Amino acid sequence: MKIFDKKSDLKKEILSLKSSGKSIGFVPTMGALHNGHISLIKQSIQENSFTVCSIFVNPTQFNNKKDLLNYPRPIETDLQILSDSKCDIAFVPTEKDIYPEADTRTFNFGQLDKVLEGKFRPGHFNGVAQVVSKLFNIVEPHKAYFGEKDLQQLAIIKALTEMLNLGVEIISCPTMREIDGLAMSSRNKLLSPSHRASAMIISQTLFKSKEMKNIPLSKLKSWVIDTINSDKNLKVEYFEIVDFDTLNILTKWPDSLKPIACIAVFAGEVRLIDNVRFF
Ligand code: PAJ
Repeated sequence: MKIFDKKSDLKKEILSLKSSGKSIGFVPTMGALHNGHISLIKQSIQENSFTVCSIFVNPTQFNNKKDLLNYPRPIETDLQILSDSKCDIAFVPTEKDIYPEADTRTFNFGQLDKVLEGKFRPGHFNGVAQVVSKLFNIVEPHKAYFGEKDLQQLAIIKALTEMLNLGVEIISCPTMREIDGLAMSSRNKLLSPSHRASAMIISQTLFKSKEMKNIPLSKLKSWVIDTINSDKNLKVEYFEIVDFDTLNILTKWPDSLKPIACIAVFAGEVRLIDNVRFF
């Protein structure tokens, strides 16, 4: 595996690969890699001649300084995992290389970033859009891979790609889970053993709620929130059922043919998100 820390060097490499007709798949990450990330890399390896994975903890998408400081950064282990996964290229840029000067761009995503994560993490998706547009400019991939675990991010990236005509095909990949159902996340590493044990209640409650589609939506919402909050380690920040494509919040069942339940929960100080399709 080749490792690049300068965008100019990576650009040269990509140019030479492309000139010999190679297709490029790209998996952007913030590191602390787990099997969720690896599933994206595996899919990219299957569908492209070369796979690039970036590791960059992007400061502009953190609306909480403490969250940025606490974010795990096990870079040596990450590079070993990438190499073991047969990733072709790791890109590990410095902040200066990605942001030689402050990025002042603001993107207008309409309603898309006004709900769910966007509502509770102001500026988060603007930061995601800033870094992903820059990374796409450097890597110029044919395809880029994103997890459905971050459903709203996926919708934002699709909108961004259209808006800026980035010419990248966005591929959505299913959520990978631990054996007890907890969605894999770099933040899981920050959970205490007791919070980790409680965290499984989140996905288990979502899966149970999927079987309760016959009760009124408002009742189902209260049941989910109350069930999770009844564990003293957990506090629901939001729980909504939205339309998969538009992310519009549903108030009654016939509002969408593709309902998906989305949740954010604090397990102590660690904020976890998850979603489960109801279709
Ligand atoms: P990060 O949280 O590291 O996630 C990188 C990619 O892995 C994202 O596309 C995310 O949706 C996917 N992913 C995370 N957990 C997953 C799981 N359990 N199953 C499947 N895929 C999963 O998302 C980011 O980084 C950043 O916002 C980024 C896009 C890199 C921009 O900075």
